[in-house]
Amino acid sequence: MKVAILIGSIRKKRVSDRLAKWVQNEINKTENNEGAIIDLIDYNLPLFDEETPPQGNPKRNVNPEVSKFLEAIGTKDALVVVSPEYNRSYTSALKNALDYIDFQLEKKPVLLLAHGSTGGAQAVAHLRGVFPGLLAITVPRAIMIPGRVGEIFNQNGTLNDPTTDESRSLQNSLKVALSDLIWYSNALSKAKK
Ligand SMILES: Cc1cc2nc3c(=O)[nH]c(=O)nc-3n(C[C@H](O)[C@H](O)[C@H](O)COP(=O)(O)O)c2cc1C
Repeated sequence: MKVAILIGSIRKKRVSDRLAKWVQNEINKTENNEGAIIDLIDYNLPLFDEETPPQGNPKRNVNPEVSKFLEAIGTKDALVVVSPEYNRSYTSALKNALDYIDFQLEKKPVLLLAHGSTGGAQAVAHLRGVFPGLLAITVPRAIMIPGRVGEIFNQNGTLNDPTTDESRSLQNSLKVALSDLIWYSNALSKAKK
């Protein structure tokens, strides 16, 4: 299974990229699965201004950057969204990117991972309302990490001290959530055949 890991923050001094690498490392440890980071910094997506909603436009003609982004998403079986909470929601950069998607996520499972000074529960709640619009399914479990991501994780996405209770708990949450994501992805793939 190929899993896209989409980073919701484009700040220069962000910490979300550490969490994306953590997810990627864990996916790559599992058999037959591969995580690919999709970093919005690598795509020059303008503010969405298409004349027609993407799903209602079969003759859609997008610019090469948008096309590259859509291909990166559409060629994967599942998605993990890593987003900080900004002002009680997820980020505007992420919303702009998601608005470009037409059918690339149809019938695919999505795992939500949010973080923020209060943990990102409101980012998760708002994202759960968005994915039905993209014909995707969010898996029941989500991961929420309160504060201190920059202290807990290093730049490579590794836990600085894997022996603490907090680290063990995070590691376990990710393992269980990824196992769910893989389960849903396999179940949906079989059903599509
Ligand atoms: C504009 C802005 C608004 C924020 N609002 C919230 C918030 O509503 N709830 C929260 O828990 N954290 C909030 N935070 C804290 C961020 O979620 C936290 O700093 C996070 O690590 C940022 O992720 P990033 O470094 O990957 O951008 C906010 C941060 C910024 C920059």
